[in-house]
Order: sequence, then structure tokens, then C-alpha cells
Amino acid sequence: MIVVENLSKSFKTRKATLAVLDKVSFTAYDGEVFGLLGPNGAGKTTALRTIATLLRPDGGTVAVDHYDSIRDSRSVRDSLGFLTSEMQLTGHLSGREMLQFFGALNHMPKEVIAARIEQLAHTFSMETYLDNPIARLSSGMKQKISIAISLIHEPQNIVFDEPTSNLDVLAVKVVSDFIRAAKAGGKCVVLSTHVLSDAQRLCDRIAILHQGEILIEGPLATLLHDSGTKDLEELFFQLINGK
Ligand SMILES: Nc1ncnc2c1ncn2[C@@H]1O[C@H](COP(=O)(O)OP(=O)(O)OP(=O)(O)O)[C@@H](O)[C@H]1O
Ligand SMILES: [Mg+2]
Repeated sequence: MIVVENLSKSFKTRKATLAVLDKVSFTAYDGEVFGLLGPNGAGKTTALRTIATLLRPDGGTVAVDHYDSIRDSRSVRDSLGFLTSEMQLTGHLSGREMLQFFGALNHMPKEVIAARIEQLAHTFSMETYLDNPIARLSSGMKQKISIAISLIHEPQNIVFDEPTSNLDVLAVKVVSDFIRAAKAGGKCVVLSTHVLSDAQRLCDRIAILHQGEILIEGPLATLLHDSGTKDLEELFFQLINGK
């Protein structure tokens, strides 16, 4: 479970201070997919990086399975798998070697890492290229390896920032099926995506973030019903254009 309360964050540049998140609050429960949606620059990645302990909040708190992201950052990282939209995999190492490296970073025994890699290779259909140098893979292949890296330690909480970017329709289905299976297995999944049709299919509850503030949060079905909109795309336009 991920609980974000009154999260504020600004970035200071030489000339100014840019307030990016203003008292953002939401909760993502176990056994559900929570969608954090919003236009470019809304602050989604900043919020997700703060949850993953890569950024320190200026105000407010983030708790992952009741661990505080500042006081217990190690425990937060242990129970969280974070796929960032900003990680660019490259280099001579193969996907398998990268996965072994991240498994070791997570203090996993070698044989557990090997078994987990086999499982992930199968889940994401990566068997044919797992031993090729990453620099020679396509964008979609790299994306799947990044997803596998974020999951190597079987985290209870899964935070995916734009997981389907660069993926073809077959791979999108593989990732969507994985997310559904994770949810069915009781995991807490937080998903940020610009593909509203994916969000509509996958998310139980959503929050829409705009200029650092949550405009609405709640069960998708309830939000659609209450706003009289037919789908997430219409709700999104109504909210953002109404601003
Ligand atoms: N390290 C940083 N230093 C300064 N400004 C930053 C930094 N990271 C993000 N920002 C700014 O914070 C704002 C929110 O960025 P963020 O990446 O969180 O948006 P986003 O909702 O993920 O957008 P997108 O949909 O384009 O991925 C933007 O104005 C961005 O320029
Ligand atoms: Mg982003």
C-alpha cells in the first residue's frame, strides 16, 4: 500500500523556484491498480520519483507498506519496484547480466536470481534476446528489460511510469496481462500513462493531476458516472479544458 499525504515539491533553478507538487494526497491499496494521470508537466514523474525515494519531499509524507520514505528509505526500496520513464539502458552488458547485477544489489542469492530471470524472461517473452548486448536491442526490447529489472526482487508495490512506451500491441498486451495478474495476486500497482484507453481498461481508481494539484481522485466507474462522461478521455478533456 502506498500512502501519499500533502506531498509538496519544488525545484530551484538559478532564477526561480518552480512549485511542481502542491499538497498532493492519494492512497493506492493492495490488490488494485491506481492510475496517476495528467497532462505533460503535471508532476506525475516527480510524484513517482518521490515515492521511490529518489527525490526528497519538501513537505508532506510518503509511506510504502507503512515505511516512511525518508526514515525507512531502505525498506521502501525493498518493497517497491519502480519503472522510470527516464532510464535509458545502454552498453555492452546483456539483459541477463543487468538483471543479475540488480538482483545482487537487492541482496538476492545467485540461484534465486537465476530462477527469477527465467520466470521474467518467460513472462515478458524475452528469451531470444536476453543474452544480446543491450545497445543492440530495439527500444521495445529495452523497455521490457527495464520492466524486468524493476521487478527482479518481486516487490509488493509496483510503480510503473509509462510502462507501455515504445511497445507494440503484442507487448502492450503482455504488460497489461502482467499488471492484471499482479493485482490479482494482491500487489499494489501505481500506473502513470498517457494511453487513456489502457488506463481505462486497467485502473480501478485514478487521480488526475494538473499543474501539481489533484483535480479528482476516486473509483473510475464512480467518477465517470458522477461527471456524466462516457469514458476517461472525455473526463480528462472536461477536467483539463475546464481549467
Ligand atoms: N530535476 C528537475 N529540475 C527542475 N525542474 C524539473 C525537474 N524535474 C521535473 N521538473 C519540472 O517539473 C514539472 C513536472 O515534471 P514531471 O516530469 O513531474 O511531469 P510529468 O507529469 O511526468 O510530465 P510527462 O507527462 O511529460 O512525463 C515540469 O515543469 C518539469 O520541467
Ligand atoms: Mg513523466
